[in-house]
Amino acid sequence: MSTATLDSKPTVPDEIPSFTATIIVRRFDPDKDAEPYWQDFDVVMYGTDRVLDALHKIKWEQDGSLSFRRSCAHGVCGSDAMRINGRNRLACKTLLKDLDISKPIYIEAIKGLPLEKDLIVDMDPFFESYKAINPFLISNTPSKDGKERKQSPVERARFDDTTKCILCAACTSSCPVFWTDGQYFGPAAIVNAHRFIFDSRDEGAQVRLDILNDKEGVWRCRTTFNCSEACPRGIQVTQAIAEVKQAVMRGRA
Ligand code: SF4
Ligand code: FES
Repeated sequence: MSTATLDSKPTVPDEIPSFTATIIVRRFDPDKDAEPYWQDFDVVMYGTDRVLDALHKIKWEQDGSLSFRRSCAHGVCGSDAMRINGRNRLACKTLLKDLDISKPIYIEAIKGLPLEKDLIVDMDPFFESYKAINPFLISNTPSKDGKERKQSPVERARFDDTTKCILCAACTSSCPVFWTDGQYFGPAAIVNAHRFIFDSRDEGAQVRLDILNDKEGVWRCRTTFNCSEACPRGIQVTQAIAEVKQAVMRGRA
């Protein structure tokens, strides 16, 4: 039981220690620049600040033209994937103190998608691949009692991991096959196909498996594991791709 009284006040440290972080951002404005270039910013930050906070500080206090996407700021919407020190991460989930702040922090747009401005890429090719795998429940059979389609906990667990995807593109844009072959469906589309292929209520598995048996489908994966390492949701992306490959060969288990 709490012993706090109405008079008690939270303890606030006299001074929260700050540090200066050097953020080097790869800038590009299609209206002015022939090529992208790196620009340095020094910002005073705190131990609880994330990379997204540093970008906000630059934008609000130093250069309002700095462009990046974000919405929820809490790892849910998937809009702020970017390359931070050479690795795909969500800016809102990356604490500055977890990086080596004694050195500059390099931030650039994710790779493999057309660069639009600064940290913003054209996500249309990514979402076209996602739409192509029919990311919705397909069933032509009416449910037994005209109510919800029931599923056991074991059946639900079969595809639980891939339900966690927030479509941030960190996996697809970390894949060397996708960098060199923009036609490849990419890990995120396959993860979302997995989510429905292994759903016991779905009757469209074979349609999706036929789509992914294409030359730009699952067989382009070279199992480099970049995708699993990049995923901010901890999804076992490479394993999901392997399971879809197995299903293409042997059918849905
Ligand atoms: S699988 Fe992970 S990295 Fe890929 S789009 Fe989904 S959440 Fe992002
Ligand atoms: S801003 Fe939504 S995931 Fe980072």
